[in-house]
Amino acid sequence: MLAEENEKMTRTGPGTPAGNWMRRYWQPVALTEELDGPRPVAAVKILGEDLVLFRNDDGSLGLIERRCAHRGADLSLGRLEDGGLRCYFHGWLFDGSGACLETPAEPAGSKLASRVRLTAYPVRECNGIVWGYLGPGEQPNLPALDCFLAPEEYTFAFKGFLDCNWLQALEVGIDPAHASYLHRFEEDDDPSDAYGRQFRNVSLGTDLPMTKILRDYGRPEILNTRTDYGQRIVALRRIDGDGYDGSATHVRITHQVFPHGITIPLSSSMAITQWHVPVDDTSCYWYAMFTSLTEPVDREKMRAQRLEGITLPDYKPVRNRANQYMFDPAEQKTSTYTGVGHDINVHDQMAVEGQGHIHDRTREHLSRSDRAIVTYRRMLLAAIDAVAAGKNPDLLLKDTADVESRGPIPLDGIGPTGQWESYWTDAVELLRKSSPWAQNSAAARATGPAGVRSAPAEPDDELLPPYPGTPN
Ligand code: FES
Ligand SMILES: [Fe+2]
Repeated sequence: MLAEENEKMTRTGPGTPAGNWMRRYWQPVALTEELDGPRPVAAVKILGEDLVLFRNDDGSLGLIERRCAHRGADLSLGRLEDGGLRCYFHGWLFDGSGACLETPAEPAGSKLASRVRLTAYPVRECNGIVWGYLGPGEQPNLPALDCFLAPEEYTFAFKGFLDCNWLQALEVGIDPAHASYLHRFEEDDDPSDAYGRQFRNVSLGTDLPMTKILRDYGRPEILNTRTDYGQRIVALRRIDGDGYDGSATHVRITHQVFPHGITIPLSSSMAITQWHVPVDDTSCYWYAMFTSLTEPVDREKMRAQRLEGITLPDYKPVRNRANQYMFDPAEQKTSTYTGVGHDINVHDQMAVEGQGHIHDRTREHLSRSDRAIVTYRRMLLAAIDAVAAGKNPDLLLKDTADVESRGPIPLDGIGPTGQWESYWTDAVELLRKSSPWAQNSAAARATGPAGVRSAPAEPDDELLPPYPGTPN
């Protein structure tokens, strides 16, 4: 990968090519719970822009520049009153559209306020997350994905800070091989305590714990396919130990969703759609939307589990770069691959932060297991170039109105070897039938649960370096 390509993909501030591309999509700017306190105001930094989010008495939301238009005081500490945020310095009042409503220190009759305006962005709230549209032109719809279409009680949202560039945070999520190493546990848990936790349950249709499958089968066959939302990624582990004769295969299907999301299974009936949103070029937040097909989510339990590992109000991990993730060499020798505990979010965090604040992709040696990453980078560079050429990126996903749902539906289970596609389709059909809210979602069924059935896998010879543009 050329240094210029790495720059192009990773820099997302105002006016940058990737920043212009990313601004064509709705971005998660805060959890709804961040506005739950007595003073619903949150400082927000996203895509290198300093903003402030607030909720007025009438429930309406505003997302405006953080610096006052007068002489730049910090509006996130302003007075929330009179339908907007009032600067604590000289009392100027701004509403959610960025309009200046009052300049009380000016002479009576002054028209100054009418000439002053702050940048403001449209906001929407959906399933526990406040979304902002920081781009030009008309705002798209939220995409037709299960995580947006599910009734709120079937969802739960949470977030966490990562001290590195957004792209490496995303890339760990489309790398199916790492789970056999980074997330390896030497002992299997009691699956009855698995609710709300990744990789701790048995795989759908067997009594084999996920931890054991990942540990024992470390060379998955990986197939990735382009779809209308990004990619479908299939990891196959043929089971030929523990009394199995190879006629069964562990199938794990995950998805990459544009611009910077993934959808992965948490359990047999719950999916995680996780977005990786730049704060600036060297840090980001992951925002996870947990979506249950079959029953309302126990949010209190899931929130309590996740609060154990982070500190509020900024959702920064307790284990972090500064304390070396509380690394324990004895644990690394005996029970986990990493030595940093059992929370897989911490494992991923250590892996991606370990690559540096902005991973230098000119020095890596990509392998066959990186195929979905290679495809994503190709799609990403093409989308950035499309926007730079004045076009819309193909993968805008702005059609909530005309597509019932694309899912995309992930899966983790064991099916007949060589038949993952029909196994997946049947399993998903069954799952959707048992869902009170998604059972009539005909679009997702008719086209196959991830939109595209029998789409060709990315060919092998396309996948390994050199990239287009690499000299040699
Ligand atoms: S700096 Fe905000 S009112 Fe003066
Ligand atoms: Fe991971």
